[in-house]
This record gives sequence, C-alpha cells and structure tokens, in this order.
Amino acid sequence: MILENYKSVDKDKVVNWFEAGKTSDFDENGGNCIKYKNLQIAVFNFTRKNKWYACQNLCPHKLEMVLSRGMIGSENEIPKVACPLHKKTFSLENGKSLSDENLSIATFPVKIENEKVLVGFDF
Ligand code: FES
Repeated sequence: MILENYKSVDKDKVVNWFEAGKTSDFDENGGNCIKYKNLQIAVFNFTRKNKWYACQNLCPHKLEMVLSRGMIGSENEIPKVACPLHKKTFSLENGKSLSDENLSIATFPVKIENEKVLVGFDF
C-alpha cells in the first residue's frame, strides 16, 4: 500500500541529499511539493521560525496528496502542518499526529547549502 513507501529518515542515516531547488523557489511560511523517485515530498519554508521541514505529501487520513498545501503553525512550540481537507494536524519534527493518535507521517531532514534546499533520503 502506498503509505508504506513513506518512512521517516534520521539525519545520520542520510545517503543522498537531494537538491530540491533554490531557497527562492519555495513559498514563505508555506509548502511546496517535490518529487523524489516515486515519492511526493512536501517541503515547508517556515520563515517565521527560520526553519525548513519536509514530510510526505500524502495525508494518511484519506490518502490524499495534499499536505504541501496545508497551513503551518505551532502548537505548544511544536511546528505543525494541518491537512487542508479535514484539518488533522501533524508535528513537522517527528510526524506524530497532534489530533489523531492513530495517524502519523514520515519526516525527512532538510538542510540549506549555498541557497540550495537539500532533502535527505536513506535510499
Ligand atoms: S485527508 Fe487529510 S485530514 Fe482527511
């Protein structure tokens, strides 16, 4: 099943830093979708916090490719994305749902080098 294609990657397990684009290609305080192999990845430029995050674009609730269009914000200091469809929320740090404990998403490390956005994968 499609959800099984998405597994979180620890920074120390990264074998490929994929160049997702220039920092200026990404919307401020919002998400954009990139493709890596057969995966759709939502990349968030959290300008207000001066942080970048990446997670699966697939919302695990109804298996819709929508999370990159979700609103980002914070809940008790935890950066989060809210699915645009039914507003389930997920931590951008560890992918845990903040609204439904049965759901979670995969997260991926992001780093910025020379104004390039690099997303880390372990394959
Ligand atoms: S599809 Fe994302 S919350 Fe329902």
